[in-house]
Amino acid sequence: MPDLTRRRVLAVGGALGVMAAGGLGAAAGLSRRPAVTGAELRSAVPLPPPFRVPLPLPAVLRPVSTAAGTDRYEIVQRETTAEILPGVRTRLWTYGGTFPGPTIESRRGRPVTVTHRNELPVPTVVHLHGGRTPAESDGYPTDLVTPAGWPTTAAHGGHTEPGGHAGHGSGQGMHDPRAVTTELTRDYTFPLDQRATLLWYHDHRMDFTAPAIWRGLAGMHLVRDDAEEALGLPSGPRELPLMITDRAFAADGSLDYPSLDPTLRGRPGVREPYLAGVLGDVILVNGAPWPVHEVDAARYRLRLLNASNARHYELEWVDGDGRNLPVVQVGSDQGLLAAPVTHTYLPVAPAERYDVVVDFAHAPVGGLVRLVNRLGSGRTREVMAFRVARRATDTSRIPRTLSTDLPNWRRSDAVRVRDFSFRAGRMGEDDGHGWLIGGLPFDPARSDVTVRLGDVEVWRLVADVHHPVHLHLAGFRILSRGGEQPLPHDGGLKDTVSLRPGESAEIITRFDGYRGRYLFHCHNAEHEDMGMMANLQVT
Ligand code: C2O
Ligand code: CU
Ligand code: CU
Repeated sequence: MPDLTRRRVLAVGGALGVMAAGGLGAAAGLSRRPAVTGAELRSAVPLPPPFRVPLPLPAVLRPVSTAAGTDRYEIVQRETTAEILPGVRTRLWTYGGTFPGPTIESRRGRPVTVTHRNELPVPTVVHLHGGRTPAESDGYPTDLVTPAGWPTTAAHGGHTEPGGHAGHGSGQGMHDPRAVTTELTRDYTFPLDQRATLLWYHDHRMDFTAPAIWRGLAGMHLVRDDAEEALGLPSGPRELPLMITDRAFAADGSLDYPSLDPTLRGRPGVREPYLAGVLGDVILVNGAPWPVHEVDAARYRLRLLNASNARHYELEWVDGDGRNLPVVQVGSDQGLLAAPVTHTYLPVAPAERYDVVVDFAHAPVGGLVRLVNRLGSGRTREVMAFRVARRATDTSRIPRTLSTDLPNWRRSDAVRVRDFSFRAGRMGEDDGHGWLIGGLPFDPARSDVTVRLGDVEVWRLVADVHHPVHLHLAGFRILSRGGEQPLPHDGGLKDTVSLRPGESAEIITRFDGYRGRYLFHCHNAEHEDMGMMANLQVT
């Protein structure tokens, strides 16, 4: 990290920290560890009662070819209109016409090429979150796919609109000579030489990721392998991918979002009081509001993804008698745990995934099991429900050993320890509020961290408010939290660690895979757009 002028950061960070806290609403002070970081939009259309809309399951995309050992897919990014709330028509930006986009299912080690075609009105970037991907296909935020006819003065990375806002407004080197812009289409190649898990793909354009995801640019990507399938975990109709998001709806049915420039072509960022994050008052699972799904009284494997911009969840499964069902965690962001861990609730930060087994045989047949967010209030406490329809035979099992290939790096393996602060601050001398890593806002032209391929490093991260910190390329283990043992749900291989207000954490990883230009950033999508991202160069 270029040395940070600590005194200055503390000075402005302190003042803006108060402002960020103001964005939390109510009297939530930083010291009281507020449940949310962000401010909630209120929908201007009537909201449907919960548990009426059936849970949609995104279609699994069919490859256009499977020749030469590679699965090839095509996805057209385009606008569409969908009925998310019953009777309300909503414009969306989609992968392939649906929100979530189609699910891609892959085998570990079998490469996938996805040809994305951009028919949206702005440039886009595709990132496969959690993928161990060569840099040229990792979706660096200035590697744009421009729509047909977009002005080709593309040297300015994310800011190709003539007369548009010049970067973060700080005028500090937004020119990115290394950006590789392609017109209309781009092939992204994913070797998927990595542990089986649930990945997700989403937009990653510099300064505009948050509103693009909000409008619908997100989809799931499952990687499977033989070892996992041999375990006997619930499968087929008893395995459910669940993408959880929050949104708000304007009076005309469109998705409400407080963009400074709703065309997403000019000035990035959001209005006050949403600087700390945009929350919606409608909870969607797989794109449906508070859906319901009919289940057998049997074990189900739930592949959970929090694809919300800023909302955190503490999920619990509650039956009609108010009892919590046990939640058996079998995997985390980057695949299976070594052994199952049983929880009563599960904290899920933006971009985190949890692989859990819930046994609906614990609940009365005929009743509802509600998936509840303990951090929500009013309608946002409810997420979805499962209707336990019938008794059924269950041959699934949860073996005591799930995997034996988890990396177990020790502190003594680390060749370096680095420190990073994640705090509010100023984007530039005369510009407004931002979110900074080590005192600096993102600049694609700066080099922040250079690591050597194969090196093991320990990173110490510290936060002011909630910051879910995500590392591209490399999965990591959580070594400690607040100087203590990690939490019970911190096990396994992670790619996102949820720092809570005022908290620090240590992570350890080996930078394996590929050389090139990668990123680490906060996955509160508003923070990410307002500077909280840094370059990671692997050499
Ligand atoms: Cu989920 Cu850098 O992204
Ligand atoms: Cu990522
Ligand atoms: Cu953040």
